[in-house]
Amino acid sequence: MDYFQYRRGKLYCENVAVDDIVRSAGTPAYIYSKATLGVHFQRFARAFAPLQPLICYSVKSCGNLAILRELRRCGSGFDVVSGGELFRALQIGADPATIVFAGVGKTDREINEALAAGIGWFNIESEEEFWNLDRLASLRGVVAQAALRVNPDVSSRGTHRKTLTGKKETKFGIDINRAADFYSQASRAAHARLHALHLHIGSPIQSPRPFVNAIGKALALIDRLARRGMVIDTIDIGGGFAAFYEGNEAPSAAEYAAAIVPLLVGRNLRVILEPGRSISCNAGILVSRVQYAKQGGKKKFIIVDAAMNDLIRPTLYESYHFIWPVNPGPARVPPRRLSSLRIPGDEKVDVVGPICESGDYLARDRWLPVLQRGALLAVFSTGAYGFAMSSQYNTRPRAVEVLVDGSVWRVIRRRETYRDLIAGEE
Ligand SMILES: Cc1ncc(COP(=O)(O)O)c(C=O)c1O
Repeated sequence: MDYFQYRRGKLYCENVAVDDIVRSAGTPAYIYSKATLGVHFQRFARAFAPLQPLICYSVKSCGNLAILRELRRCGSGFDVVSGGELFRALQIGADPATIVFAGVGKTDREINEALAAGIGWFNIESEEEFWNLDRLASLRGVVAQAALRVNPDVSSRGTHRKTLTGKKETKFGIDINRAADFYSQASRAAHARLHALHLHIGSPIQSPRPFVNAIGKALALIDRLARRGMVIDTIDIGGGFAAFYEGNEAPSAAEYAAAIVPLLVGRNLRVILEPGRSISCNAGILVSRVQYAKQGGKKKFIIVDAAMNDLIRPTLYESYHFIWPVNPGPARVPPRRLSSLRIPGDEKVDVVGPICESGDYLARDRWLPVLQRGALLAVFSTGAYGFAMSSQYNTRPRAVEVLVDGSVWRVIRRRETYRDLIAGEE
């Protein structure tokens, strides 16, 4: 569900015509819908309400300050994975107690910054990291709160191998079979309290089942620890809830909650969630302009002004994003965002960018209406891991970001300039 809809043959974000925005903001442009962000956050909050969870929006999915501010207004805390993300969360006035800090390679500098801020939890990914946290906290004379990220060794069908994190062979967390010993050794630490458990099994997890399996294993561990006199009072079940790329393929927040809430209700555990994609993905589109069309062998290429530096997901994960003209006219409004959508008169094309790599594409073998030079294309479901993963490769300024709120819109990150690109260079 989102607030990007066609009206009379034109794409709107909430009540603003997308072509009106890009007429002044230019292309490529990321356009976000504030209402979509809010609705997605509230759906999670409502569905998991029986657990009174702390929802920590995952900054990595889309970390623009204006987006973070909107989510803080909705009541969100923040999941960060770097000093930079922590800085972002603090910049918008997030309550440090609602910040969780994950990541396998936190540096001393990052840990010190987080200790100075007084964040809620460090999500610990190795024994060495835990003892380093204890050391750094003792130098400051403080006690840090920590969760152990356990790796529950569960798989998930449909999750790309590069974003599956809950299997033993990945670099994330501590093997669940080693976790009890770890908790026991950690209880000797004077400046780090390991009293929480963290899971994050991958992204996106297309069904509630892997969550149920992982939480089941985590609860068994918590019970085992309790029998040994070690109290775990907080469980962070991570993120990884799916979003819609083709229509209604993702379970809703209510469906995830229906499977997860009964496992945790009445357990006397504080519950944390770290959704990113499920909140921001459908809240954003990338708009680009057709530059040229050309034939290459049997293929027709539509060359647009957005590229893999703007949206790397198709190149990196072979991911699917629905693409359609911004102004297709009333006869060509897409009924769904299916990859199989084909309207009579469409032609099969590759949508590619201008970067010097054959991996630079947004879509392959896609049926699209015939496009003229100058036409605008919307790439849907790009709010998560879109701008956030963008780069300046090929010395391309990063895209402008725009936030729509009802009938008004504003630039929330200006397009980079050539000067920005060389700033800091000798
Ligand atoms: C520790 C952690 N939490 C939360 C997330 C957010 O995942 P998603 O955007 O799929 O909800 C990630 C994503 O990689 C993560 O690594």
